[in-house]
Amino acid sequence: MSGLLAKKPLQSALGEAKGDHLRRVLGPWALTALGIGAIIGSGIFVTTGKAANQIAGPALMISYVLAGLTCLFAALCYAEFAAMTPVAGSAYTYAYTTLGEIFAWIIGWDLILEYAVGASTVATGWSAYFSNFLTLFPPDWGLTVPAALNESPLAYKDGKFVATDGVINLPAVLIILALTGVLMKGIKESANLNAVMVAIKVGAVLFVILVGMVFVNPANWDDFAPYGWTGINVFGYQVLGEHRGDQPIGMIAGAAIIFFAYIGFDAVSTQAEESKNPQRDMPIGIIGSLVICTVLYIAVVIVLTGMVRYDQLDTKAAVSEAFAQVGMKWAKSLIGAAALAGLTSVLLVMLLGSARVLMAMSRDGLLPPFFSAIHPGFKTPCKGTAVVGLGVALMAGLLPLDALLEMTNIGTLFAFAVVSGAVLVMRYSNPDAPRPFRCPLVPIVPGMGVLACLLLMLSLPAHNWYRLFGWMAIGLVVYFGYGRGHSVLGRRSSPAG
Ligand code: ALA
Repeated sequence: MSGLLAKKPLQSALGEAKGDHLRRVLGPWALTALGIGAIIGSGIFVTTGKAANQIAGPALMISYVLAGLTCLFAALCYAEFAAMTPVAGSAYTYAYTTLGEIFAWIIGWDLILEYAVGASTVATGWSAYFSNFLTLFPPDWGLTVPAALNESPLAYKDGKFVATDGVINLPAVLIILALTGVLMKGIKESANLNAVMVAIKVGAVLFVILVGMVFVNPANWDDFAPYGWTGINVFGYQVLGEHRGDQPIGMIAGAAIIFFAYIGFDAVSTQAEESKNPQRDMPIGIIGSLVICTVLYIAVVIVLTGMVRYDQLDTKAAVSEAFAQVGMKWAKSLIGAAALAGLTSVLLVMLLGSARVLMAMSRDGLLPPFFSAIHPGFKTPCKGTAVVGLGVALMAGLLPLDALLEMTNIGTLFAFAVVSGAVLVMRYSNPDAPRPFRCPLVPIVPGMGVLACLLLMLSLPAHNWYRLFGWMAIGLVVYFGYGRGHSVLGRRSSPAG
């Protein structure tokens, strides 16, 4: 049992970060841009419409405040750890140094779910926006994706897999492979591509806020919380608020769904070993990107629900449709193109995050060495990145992943709760370790982080919990089948090794 709970000494984790195998090129701006790159994407452009229309009404703006606060508690905890242990493994490494190997494994496996499955789901959203974007060109140019190549062969409807007319979702596969190529080539190239995408999407978000403001009609907010202020269930049993099927509805349930929009600031911490001055810049990148996006998001939702009554908001592309609904059809293409750029950078940072977490797990022996081999010229974990890219491309091309989107939420909330709890443990177990950034108001902030994450997890439909348990069960099979026997820490501490 002690092997399972073996903790990696803080000094040994720090030693890994000192190895100069990855290229340290990222400064505070690049890190903040990587955070914004990962954050603004399908959450705000796609999920918001459905959440306002069917789950929270105009009170969705308060849902955004609640989800933003939850993330802020977690971000302050991430920042303390990321400055203290600037290692690519992020929450996985923090759990290894505080809670022990089995918890680290669970979190690492959970982060793979967040980043790799998250990237596959975002890729299918990208594909839909891409096909839509092609319709903006004159029809005689013939720029269309044939239907069979625009859809995965399986769909998930009413709890069952059904065959479709599709063969493969080719645009989703191609975008993943192209971005994988960029990531294999180098971190500088990746950061530069990200910066361009971020500029485009932040421009579009500012456009939505500043131009949309003109069309706001305060009467649209009259029925402010039509579905109530709560929406909490525990494994399917209604605790507070109304439910529609197994979906809780209300302001808090809205926060649990749109939490997806905030996911990504944590991915900054996976780039710790590529940061020039991680002790100073990790907290800036993590907290800075989150605060900027929170302010933008709340403003977008205030404007959106003010432009169009919540029950008239489009459930697929609410932001661009709202402009068409107030008579500005041309703005639709502009926002559609920006959303495409937005999703591209989300994909880029999520793929990057998965490859870095796998690298850290492989360095510890919990996964095959292949994932941590660094290319001598590119200075990236080139092979591991390729495997991640191929895996994600196959999933995005062939599986119906929309059903898995909320699973990314529950997995990430779980990781945030563990990181918040781990800050408390570390303050107690290593009170004197140097902390270049200290989370304020301990134990209140981390404690609130754990509670807020649990609250949002409980506001998700019960099937998410079952899927999370299923994913964890597969993870434990892999751990006991491979990781436990190959663990570097386990071999170091075992008498035989
Ligand atoms: N926050 C990212 C998005 O909304 C995952 O696409």
